[in-house]
Amino acid sequence: MQMNDWTHGYVADVSYDYSFFPEIAPISIVFNLLDKSFFPPSLEKFTYCELGCGQGFTTNILAATHPQGEFWGVDFNPTHAAEAQRLAEAAQLKNIHLCDQSFAEFLQADTPAFDFITLHGVYSWIGDENRKIIVELLRQKLKCGGAVYLSYNTLPGWSAVMPLRDLMVQYTASSADSTVQKVEQGLAFAQQLQGVKARYFLENPTVKYDLKEMQGDSRNYLAHEYFSRDWRPLYHSEVVQQLADAKLTFTASADIDDQFHNLKLDESQLDLLASITDSTLRETIRDFLFNSRFRRDLFVRGPIKLTTLEQVELLSNCRFALVVLPEEIEYEIELVGYPIKLDETIYQPLVSALADCPQTLRELMRQPSLTKLDFASILQALKILITTDTVVLALSKVEEEQRKQTVAALNKAILQRARFGADTQILASPITGGGIDISRSEQLFLLAHLRQVDPVQFIWNLLQVQGEKLIKEGKVLDSPEANQAELRLQAQRFADLRLPLLERLGLV
Ligand SMILES: C[S@@+](CC[C@H](N)C(=O)[O-])C[C@H]1O[C@@H](n2cnc3c(N)ncnc32)[C@H](O)[C@@H]1O
Repeated sequence: MQMNDWTHGYVADVSYDYSFFPEIAPISIVFNLLDKSFFPPSLEKFTYCELGCGQGFTTNILAATHPQGEFWGVDFNPTHAAEAQRLAEAAQLKNIHLCDQSFAEFLQADTPAFDFITLHGVYSWIGDENRKIIVELLRQKLKCGGAVYLSYNTLPGWSAVMPLRDLMVQYTASSADSTVQKVEQGLAFAQQLQGVKARYFLENPTVKYDLKEMQGDSRNYLAHEYFSRDWRPLYHSEVVQQLADAKLTFTASADIDDQFHNLKLDESQLDLLASITDSTLRETIRDFLFNSRFRRDLFVRGPIKLTTLEQVELLSNCRFALVVLPEEIEYEIELVGYPIKLDETIYQPLVSALADCPQTLRELMRQPSLTKLDFASILQALKILITTDTVVLALSKVEEEQRKQTVAALNKAILQRARFGADTQILASPITGGGIDISRSEQLFLLAHLRQVDPVQFIWNLLQVQGEKLIKEGKVLDSPEANQAELRLQAQRFADLRLPLLERLGLV
């Protein structure tokens, strides 16, 4: 037996990037189900499992922001599981279980049934056998009424690029080098082939843009995205058929943005789509209209349709938070790449209401400045603000104090790591229940603020120990004075522009 047999051909000599995916957060899943009028799992007390959780960054953030939930993170790569465990222990999280089991082993493990099972970036990167195990796992371990988030590479969007991936994998197949080296070799060879005008590149003109984009991607990401033995984009209809064996029904997209993509379709395309009565076929044809490459689907075991009144009541409890400063809001924007002008008579009062504090839809409806608007208009405006990264879903006010403590402990553990490097550029928010993007330097300014020390001296000491210097306008700042002056400027900018937002999101 080879040492690496447990990998089933999946890349294991390089770790995956740290990331947080808001779409797999329970509130996001619940909101998207409600929005399509499906009864969601409860958020009061729930069990949640992330399959193929990578470094477990998302699972840790969700566990810290949802002390009322019990979380499982499964990833057969022991380095991933150990890294996830290291963070969970540093944050003293009590409601998270992390293991380095394979999907097959986890299927046999003694666990409770889950309200939520999520898999991001997993299903089309494994072989048929493991896909079947996942379906069995969903069949056995998902509660009745439970929800599944499943993302996957989609056809037909990948059809032109599939040979590029195969080319890079075949060219490096016999190399004994590390996967990251293979990535470099594969990219260089593809570039060479493009340079000699191979007809594949000429007759698939979009591929050169993919190749160019790959050059700029993180090598860890490229290794996991393209260099595992199995890599299979799937049609939505195939996935629906496979998950039917676990008694699962497709209910909604997990990505609110998806609702607005139809703005890009012309009348004939919309008519054609509307004429297709079978929902699986309609979704698949929609993927042809957009040449979709990636889908985030929500499935439910035993979906229950809500009446309109039930839906309104449940959506009214959803809460929303502003994640930019009100003065930063622009009214002429691009919505999924489509230029639109926001009606200021709707959006201005909405934004100023949210600027005070996060609010439920019910609370917004009661705002004197919004009483003229109906429920549907406010909901639609909120969805547009979510899609344009202005507003995010927020957790209920209940148990906010408890949450603040678990989140503060997790953030403290992440901030400590920022002293040594820039691998984790996300912190958790007890208000939104999700992750907030925050650069390493912002993390260090925040750490100095929390420790009540002079940020310039604190960061300059760290940089000196690590032999680092700041870069300004492409030039390395050499002298201590120049570095400290720049740090002083950055500290002021952080205090003026970022700190108020971090305070609003409960990080301070
Ligand atoms: C592309 S990564 C995605 C990680 C994470 N979900 C994310 O999106 O950041 C896929 C993950 O699935 C894990 N994986 C692949 N096959 C597996 C298996 N058979 N059992 C358990 N984990 C597996 C890999 O180790 C890897 O961390």
